[in-house]
Parts: sequence; structure tokens; C-alpha cells
Amino acid sequence: MDRRTFTLSALGAAALGSMRLSSAAASEVAKRAIPSTGEEIPIIGLGTNRYGVDESDEARAPLRESLQRFRAWGGGMIDTAPMYRTSESVLGDLIAELGMRKDVFLATKVDKNSAESARTQMLSSHEKLKSGTFDLMQIHNLRGWQTSLPLLEEWKRSGRARYTGITTSRSSQYAELEKILAKHDLDFVQLNYSLEQRESAERLMPLAADRGIGVIINRAFGGGRLFRAVASKQIPDWAKEFGCESWAQFLLKYALSHPAATVAIPGMTKARHVDDNFAAATTRMPSAEERRRQERFFDEL
Ligand SMILES: NC(=O)c1ccc[n+]([C@@H]2O[C@H](COP(=O)([O-])OP(=O)(O)OC[C@H]3O[C@@H](n4cnc5c(N)ncnc54)[C@H](OP(=O)(O)O)[C@@H]3O)[C@@H](O)[C@H]2O)c1
Repeated sequence: MDRRTFTLSALGAAALGSMRLSSAAASEVAKRAIPSTGEEIPIIGLGTNRYGVDESDEARAPLRESLQRFRAWGGGMIDTAPMYRTSESVLGDLIAELGMRKDVFLATKVDKNSAESARTQMLSSHEKLKSGTFDLMQIHNLRGWQTSLPLLEEWKRSGRARYTGITTSRSSQYAELEKILAKHDLDFVQLNYSLEQRESAERLMPLAADRGIGVIINRAFGGGRLFRAVASKQIPDWAKEFGCESWAQFLLKYALSHPAATVAIPGMTKARHVDDNFAAATTRMPSAEERRRQERFFDEL
């Protein structure tokens, strides 16, 4: 058993608890360049649409632990939004408490139709997240994009947001999104892509690659639904050849091995899920042929 295999199996999901993560494992997390600047970020980020909890310690403790593990793996993109109930405030509190702002690529969203309410909402996100700058400000579900896009560009010029982006998770918005991506200079597009939902790979992801726009993948697990589809199955031996030790890794590696993908942001409210998902970024990705095999396997379930 080589050192990496030993480190990763020693990490084995259940045993992780309070164990310190070996810096060797964390240093093996793959990174990819943001196309517009070349800045590198880890390919696993953190989705937080389930971080909108109350102030009780009972509700916040598992999130604090997940963030600690996230940092132990090297940190990276955290994606939140005003729409996720108290998620921005919870993250602002926990990131400050843990002193981890520098370890995080902080991405939030705006979802207002008028310029004035968009500006007010973005200022409020600064406050809730306790951060004078966002790494990424995204237009949520295309909402109000015509008015918010110039605002995002203005915030980027003034240094309040380092990157700009736009998001969707609905195929009904793909046609409009395609027109926006073709015409406007954005740093990122965030979209849904998974073994179950591959439509975004047909036109949007190749277009993003052509235009030098980074792709953030949301819902690689279909919101968790895909685990039910594979629950009674064993991970096939051929998937172990590219390092899959769990279904989450199988699903994430499929999404992340699309040539246009920059980062995937699985929702994770449990530390053991953070460990499982980051481990997917420490072994090789499936080849084009292995990806087709994953698709055939999934389609036959
Ligand atoms: N339009 C938009 O802008 C948009 C739309 C949708 C989502 N998003 C963003 O994308 C993120 C991801 O989407 P999502 O959270 O809805 O769906 P998802 O990432 O496909 O699935 C999240 C679910 O998978 C579970 N999970 C995570 N890792 C696991 C593992 N290793 N093993 C077993 N279960 C695991 C999570 O459980 P635990 O929570 O228990 O860890 C959670 O129930 C969101 O959090 C949000 O930041 C953006």
C-alpha cells in the first residue's frame, strides 16, 4: 500500500470524527484555474442551501464541524445566497468565529429586479457575511440580470466583488442563459449537471469553455436524490480503478470530469460528507470512455 492509499484509507469515512487530517491528503486535492485569470481553486467547494438554521448551538454545531473539515482540506469556494434563509448570517458568524475568511473563496448571489433593491441586497450580504469583499457575486436564477449585470461590473471595478457570475438549476432557463453567456463577459456560470441531468453539457458547458467562463456545478447529487437510485447497488470494480470508494465520489467524479468543469459545490452539512467528497478530488478523474461507462451504468439502473 503506498503512502497516499494508506492516508486515504486511514481517513475512511467513519473513522474521521475528530481526527486531524494529514496535510499530505489535503495537499493532494486537485485545483483548477479560473479561466478569466488563471487563479487556481480546489475543485470541491461547499454548497450551503441547508445552512439557513437558527442561532442554537444544536443547529450550528454540525455546520461548524463541517466548516472546520472544509478548512482542514484546504478550503475553497463556499456558495451561499440571500435566498437560503439565514445561511449568509450563519456563515458570516462561523467563518469569523473560526478565523477562516482567508481560507475561503466566498460566493453569494443577488436576486432582485430593480437596481436599487439589488444594491441594498448586496450591501446586506456584505454585512451578514462580515466581509468587505466577495470573491464572487452571481445573479441568482437569471433574476433581474439586465439590471444587475451592470451593477456587478461596477462592483468588480471598485473591488467589492472579484468575479462576476450567473446561476441556474433549471433547464427551462438554458436557452436564455445561452444567449446571455454568448453576449456578456462573465467570469463564472453556475449550473446543474449530474449523471441524471446531462442537458447542460450539450450547449452551455461547451459555450462556457469557448468563452473562457468558469463552470461551477451544482446538484451533482440531484439534491441527494441520486443516492436513492444507487442505494441497493455495489460500486462496480471498474469505478474503483479511478478511485471511487463511495457513491458520492462516483457522482462527483462524473460531474467534475466534464472538460469545462471548474469546481463542484456539493451541499454538505455533515463533516463526514466533507471528507468523503474531498477525497474524490485526490484521485484521478474518469477518462472519456470511463465517463460513457458511468452513463450506461446509470441509465440501466
Ligand atoms: N440556482 C442556483 O443558484 C442553485 C440551485 C441549487 C443549488 N445551488 C447551490 O448548489 C449547492 C448544491 O446543491 P444541493 O445542495 O441542492 O444538492 P446536492 O449537492 O446535489 O445534494 C446535497 C445533498 O447530498 C448530501 N450529501 C453530500 N455529500 C454526501 C456524501 N458524501 N454522501 C452522502 N450524501 C451526501 C447532502 O447531505 P448533508 O447535507 O446531510 O451533508 C445533501 O442532502 C447548494 O447547496 C447551493 O449552494 C444553487
